[in-house]
Amino acid sequence: MKWIELKDIKKTYSGSPAVRELNLTIEEKQFVTLLGPSGCGKTTTLRIIAGLEEPDSGEIIVNGKIFFSREKGIYVPPEKRKLGLIFQSYALWPHMTVRKNISLALEQMRLPKDKIESIVKEVLNKVQLSEYIDRYPSELSGGQQQRVAVARMIAAKPSIFLMDEPLSNLDAMLRVDMRTELKRLHHELGSTTVYVTHDQVEALTLSDKIAVMDKGILKQVGTPEEIYKRPQDLFVARFVGSPRINCIEGNLATEGSGRYFKTGKIKIQIKNEAQSKMSTDSLIGTIRPEDIVVSKVEKPGWIKVNVFSVLPAGSETILSVKQDTINLSVKINGFTDIRMNESVWINIDPLKMNYYNKETGKLVFSYFS
Ligand SMILES: Nc1ncnc2c1ncn2[C@@H]1O[C@H](COP(=O)(O)OP(=O)(O)OP(=O)(O)O)[C@@H](O)[C@H]1O
Ligand SMILES: [Mg+2]
Repeated sequence: MKWIELKDIKKTYSGSPAVRELNLTIEEKQFVTLLGPSGCGKTTTLRIIAGLEEPDSGEIIVNGKIFFSREKGIYVPPEKRKLGLIFQSYALWPHMTVRKNISLALEQMRLPKDKIESIVKEVLNKVQLSEYIDRYPSELSGGQQQRVAVARMIAAKPSIFLMDEPLSNLDAMLRVDMRTELKRLHHELGSTTVYVTHDQVEALTLSDKIAVMDKGILKQVGTPEEIYKRPQDLFVARFVGSPRINCIEGNLATEGSGRYFKTGKIKIQIKNEAQSKMSTDSLIGTIRPEDIVVSKVEKPGWIKVNVFSVLPAGSETILSVKQDTINLSVKINGFTDIRMNESVWINIDPLKMNYYNKETGKLVFSYFS
């Protein structure tokens, strides 16, 4: 069921566009992430949904109710939208205990005292902070403060959660723990969530759907798997995935009865189904680092490359290999005895390749559907 609909949303700040004709539909109970680099318009979009920012044009519909329409002259103020908000700095009141920080909004809603107390206890239990109820924010770690902010948000039972980089102040370990907790919480509460981050791993791990933005433009909306395996353009392909996807410039060539994507000594077969879709000769082929296989011994048809660097990271090792002017990242599991300056052989799975138009950067063909 459609829950949040953003139609043709445009927002300009003193002549420069922050959001350009954004169209996005979010289903009930979905966890949707706005992902993109700094300045691409994520916060602006979230603030527009919250009602803290008025778009120049377009329409916002939430659960069938118009929250904003320039044309119809409708604007529902933020306090009437019943949304839960968490911003980058989670801003707990420093002079109030955890209990007070959470109960404040409930008191303003004029709920009875014993009801408030039971809600405070329930939400603190949910974020596993029951014993911290009488502490002040300064007596809590960053992660605990973050969880209090989450508890405060869910206490008011908003219809929608809006979160703007809520984990950005936490160290790497805590961030990973909090991801787990947010995901579990979303599963338990089933609240429709719009989450903003520039961290692609966070987006991949948390979301039902990811909306990738660049310079105010929505580039692609899809499940994490679609975004990862079938990026619609090179911007999305390069933004998602670490290490970065390999981009190889090349041309189509026919040899015997086969069609190939060729550059230097690299030659990748184009399978039948793809051939008819390839209208342009100048292409960029992409392959994820984990889709390249390495061998220390020569194998027929594999490509000989030189090892430029070896970066072990515990669970995986990233090799940087060179073939003439072409650099490729290769990801292998665990540690390796491959050394710098060694020659090794690689194999690129032709079915894992995606092909893009070199001029437009748009996807021409993907085997993943
Ligand atoms: N109040 C404002 N006045 C003028 N320009 C603004 C204002 N708010 C945002 N902008 C501009 O709009 C663009 C989008 O900003 P926005 O805050 O939405 O980016 P973002 O994707 O959230 O970035 P970040 O990841 O750095 O938080 C930026 O170019 C920014 O400078
Ligand atoms: Mg922002």
